[in-house]
Amino acid sequence: MPDISNLSSEIEKQLPAELVDFMRRAGEVAASQGQSLYLVGGVVRDLLLGRTNFDLDLVVEGDAINLAQQLAGITQGKIITHPRFHTAKLKWNKWSVDLATARSETYDKPGALPRVKPGSLANDLFRRDFTINTMAVELIPSRYGRLIDLYGGRDDLKHKLIRILHERSFIDDATRIWRSLRYEQRLDFKLEPDTLRLLERDIPMLDTISGDRIRHELELILKEEFPEKILCRTEELKVLPKLHPALKGDGWLAERFGQARQLSYPDLPSVELYIALLAYPLTGEESEELISRLRLPKSLAQTLRDTSSLKAKLESLADPELAPSSIYHLLHGYSQPAITANYLAADSSTARQHIQTFLSKLRYVKPSLTGNDLKKMGIAPGPQIKEILQRLHEARLDGKVTSKKGEERLVSGWLG
Ligand code: CTP
Repeated sequence: MPDISNLSSEIEKQLPAELVDFMRRAGEVAASQGQSLYLVGGVVRDLLLGRTNFDLDLVVEGDAINLAQQLAGITQGKIITHPRFHTAKLKWNKWSVDLATARSETYDKPGALPRVKPGSLANDLFRRDFTINTMAVELIPSRYGRLIDLYGGRDDLKHKLIRILHERSFIDDATRIWRSLRYEQRLDFKLEPDTLRLLERDIPMLDTISGDRIRHELELILKEEFPEKILCRTEELKVLPKLHPALKGDGWLAERFGQARQLSYPDLPSVELYIALLAYPLTGEESEELISRLRLPKSLAQTLRDTSSLKAKLESLADPELAPSSIYHLLHGYSQPAITANYLAADSSTARQHIQTFLSKLRYVKPSLTGNDLKKMGIAPGPQIKEILQRLHEARLDGKVTSKKGEERLVSGWLG
């Protein structure tokens, strides 16, 4: 890690030219209005670590919304403003930058969202989660590139430590318990000993966090490169059981997550697939408890229900004599992540083979004849058409018919 107090050459080397130009212009505009402007948070941490991160967070000692409006003019971009929080998001081309007025925060009660009021840069950095996220870089021309490190972030980066800023940090916002473990495993850092002690002390505070906020943290974990490392660590520290006591961050999960990545390559597995695997050991009733704790949206909730109900059918799927149409009926209608999760979790190789046949072939099989074709063959509209189409579908699945002509012959035969 570079031991430097000016990051202008890191910025130049690591960020795309368009973003570098943007930051210089933004610094000039802010300075022309007597405001100070800083690059802050994760991107500064990652500039020092040499990790790719193009998510710019800017803090203004002044008025972020006004500055965003002017920058929107220069970049021909669009802004979304949140006057209540004095923040704005600026988007142009493929870029998106967050601007915030420097603020301080107070928490009315543990786990609640903070009350914010304008403050200094020092206030703004002090309200953050970990020292490694509290560094800032000056952007106004006369001080461009200068590193501001008020809370020992650079030292902690050097020693690979995750450290909270004050005793009450996890009480104020227990999502930081999850966040600390995400950073620890992502960066291969360690929790600083006092931070670890306070984390363990404050685990009960996880109950103060709303389902939406916990779900958000879990989704962030599942978007990491190796989510299983984080989940195993959360199990070790008894954080995962606070989500649901039956969840397990163990070798089984690690193996399945690895297989899910192989299967999805070159893409990453979806959050749905990962959650289905995480929830796999749960009973139907326990899944319902998890769904309500995390306030899972409908489709994700359905995936967990599908996963659980399909799990109960794995024994039937393990029968080597199953006809293709029976395989189809066992698997049809379930969400894809639920089917894939069961494929990865199934012990029986026959069941896995059947699922693979379904996914690669059976789910696409359809009869060639349509309802209209049947009408043209003289069949009266009504339930009989549906019934014949179903029988044709089965015949197709089981390979008893392979062409449109063959289907016509079959139907004629059925009609006598
Ligand atoms: N933050 C915080 N407490 C939280 C969430 C966020 O203090 N519960 C602070 C962190 O200091 C972080 C900043 O808000 O640097 C922005 O949050 P986020 O976008 O989640 O973090 P990044 O650092 O931008 O992203 P990441 O660390 O995942 O790369």
